[in-house]
Amino acid sequence: MAEINSVTTLETDGDVAVITLNSPPVNALSANVRDGLYEGFKAAIASDAKAIVLICEGRTFIAGADITEFGGAQRGASLFDVQNMMENSPKPVVAAIHGTALGGGLEVALCAHYRVAVPSARLGLPEVNLGLLPGAGGTQRLPRIAGVEKALEMMTSGRHAPAKEALEMGLVDEIVPEGQLKEGAVAFARKAVAENKPLVKVRENNAKLEAANGHPEIFADFRKANARRFRGFLAPEYNIRCVEAAVNAPTFEEGLATERKLFAELISGPQSAAQRYYFFAERQAQKIPDVPDDTPTRPIKKVGVLGAGTMGGGISMNFANVGIPVTIVEVKQEALERGLSTMRKNYERSRGARPEETEKRMGLISGSLDMNAFADCDLVIEAVFERMDIKKDVFQKLDAICKPGAILATNTSGLNIDEIASVTRRPQDVIGLHFFSPANVMKLLEIVRADKTAKDVIATSMKLAKQIGKVAVLVGVCPGFVGNRILAQRQREAQKLVLEGAMPWDVDRVLYDFGFPMGPFAMSDLAGLDIGWVKEKSNGATIRDVLCEMDRRGQKTRAGYYDYDENRTAKPSPVTEKIINDFIVKSGRNPRKISDEEILDRCIYPMINEGAKILEEGKAIRSSDIDVVWVNGYGWPVYRGGPMYYGDQFGPDKVLARMQEFQSKMGEDFKPAALLERLVAEGKKFSDFKQQQRQPEPA
Ligand code: 3HC
Ligand code: NAI
Repeated sequence: MAEINSVTTLETDGDVAVITLNSPPVNALSANVRDGLYEGFKAAIASDAKAIVLICEGRTFIAGADITEFGGAQRGASLFDVQNMMENSPKPVVAAIHGTALGGGLEVALCAHYRVAVPSARLGLPEVNLGLLPGAGGTQRLPRIAGVEKALEMMTSGRHAPAKEALEMGLVDEIVPEGQLKEGAVAFARKAVAENKPLVKVRENNAKLEAANGHPEIFADFRKANARRFRGFLAPEYNIRCVEAAVNAPTFEEGLATERKLFAELISGPQSAAQRYYFFAERQAQKIPDVPDDTPTRPIKKVGVLGAGTMGGGISMNFANVGIPVTIVEVKQEALERGLSTMRKNYERSRGARPEETEKRMGLISGSLDMNAFADCDLVIEAVFERMDIKKDVFQKLDAICKPGAILATNTSGLNIDEIASVTRRPQDVIGLHFFSPANVMKLLEIVRADKTAKDVIATSMKLAKQIGKVAVLVGVCPGFVGNRILAQRQREAQKLVLEGAMPWDVDRVLYDFGFPMGPFAMSDLAGLDIGWVKEKSNGATIRDVLCEMDRRGQKTRAGYYDYDENRTAKPSPVTEKIINDFIVKSGRNPRKISDEEILDRCIYPMINEGAKILEEGKAIRSSDIDVVWVNGYGWPVYRGGPMYYGDQFGPDKVLARMQEFQSKMGEDFKPAALLERLVAEGKKFSDFKQQQRQPEPA
């Protein structure tokens, strides 16, 4: 075996040369990897071998360009040099794929003459999720293999196609058994030589493009069908334009030129910078300074859920989906049955649901009215009413019933978990697992560390979150934790703006245009204005009270802040407008014209300021964790990175100045956080802030 460089080797297996790449963790195409591939192919082509196999060691085939190198000076061989060397090889080149062939990795594989994969392999062009497009010929080659429609779908979703699907679309030529990738690829290469198979260059296959030629409606229809999903993002549109170029440009090279030009635009723009930042933020959130990766975890083989309401049902589904049995306990038979039937309906309604899958999952969920059913659970998650007295009562019971070492979690949206833990004899086993509604769909999980929560309980929760497909962020105990605490700032300002003269639809429009999926008032209408509203106590003290008293309780009554037609399309409501105007007059205020800029700044800046307070109080480990919470749980547009990233881009000094300006006019709601002032004085950013290490726990 010859060492080509520190990450690449070349060996021969009979008459087949095998180039092996080993650059952990994901064989990303760093300068060193590109050099290794370039020199490896050069040597293999010059050797006596009759065919060449490219294979990777470790968990995956090449997972893409090395994102950490973006923005730096080009070093080493270019990716295009490597690709040309492969494609023009006079000997068949076979890419052997396991794990994921993504982005630049798939683009390399597409320059091999053939591709073989193991059944568990997945292939995709996920650049769009980084605000990019495949910039190494992928936009021109994928449609040539998979056809225009499929390429559009894959490139704009970033989806990873499983090997079987890849085989059907021609992206993979053969599937070989798991664990036998190298043998399978070498055998394929040998067969290619023996049968004198052609040296297929994807770039020369125009048949599928010709089928789309003269059909611009394919693109128009695709844009229209996905307009909502793509709203605000640049990259999906740029990906589409590249596929259009593949169809319309007279030559492959001209299509490639379009790809290069648009890639260059995206990579130097603010959206991709934010999305790349976010990619690493999500991974960073998994790292907890005083809970290292090798912290032992507790086995979670059976989960209990207390309360089968809105949250309990969704929470249970997460575990059944990954094969973990769940026992769900309610107070009343009726509530239990309602909860179970809602879960069943959710399964039946989910896309592509097969009856046997529904049965399998429902078969893992058992219901009971007796908390003793939790005795053998490794984790119990409480999701009963949001009242401290009830929470304390059930935690005392759980403490008595659950086996030693079982984790007791609460799904409270903001109650003091230290107080809840204090009623148990095992506060070290108590933690917050704050799911978001609908809990079976929403990705975010705030894991709330209480004062005495043990490290292995945190490590177990982080691991479990990954297992059930959630993005977990560790936060500390404070009212509303990170997400709702920041939301409260925005809600307060939205309400105040309406009392000062802005209409709910003005506030909603500004936030929608900023990139949120909907504004706070549309959101209230969707959730129902009567959540937490008590008819008997209502006395017209707020606009919401007045609306509810008129039975304008939101979408479900076809009227709330907005009026709704039979398709639930919202229209600004003259009734609401009158209610608001009357309310303002009655309370002796003078409505004024409020600019869109003021609406946005009043809603956004206090959020950033609250984020700073959260950081200084140690309730989030780092500013990027706050961004992960807001992107995943509250629809902050990922192309703006998150509130703290946004603040950093704008500049903490400007955030401070605007807060001070508002403070002088409107008072203490805008009092700048001490940390914000300190960072500005030191010329630093939120991302520069490092949390002090926690003190070691007493033995
Ligand atoms: N570049 C640099 N580092 C990368 C990377 C990449 N493309 N992909 C992953 N990593 C790093 C992660 O940051 C992480 O580092 P850490 O351990 O220090 O936190 C480590 O590799 C492992 O990653 P994950 O925690 O995500 O591991 P998983 O096993 O859960 O997932 C994966 C593996 C599916 C490959 C996932 O990492 C992933 O989706 N990576 C990104 C793939 C991608 O977007 N590729 C396209 C890149 S852009 C491109 O190719 C442009 C081209 O068209 C020119
Ligand atoms: P819910 O009212 O829909 O369900 C609560 C269920 O708990 C009811 O079915 C009730 O019968 C049951 N229950 C009450 N006391 C019980 C007891 N002692 N033993 C067993 N079951 C009991 O409430 P929801 O919305 O599911 O909220 C539950 C918890 O989740 C609350 O703490 C809430 O703050 C939190 N939460 C709610 C979110 C939401 O959007 N609904 C989001 C995140 C957290």
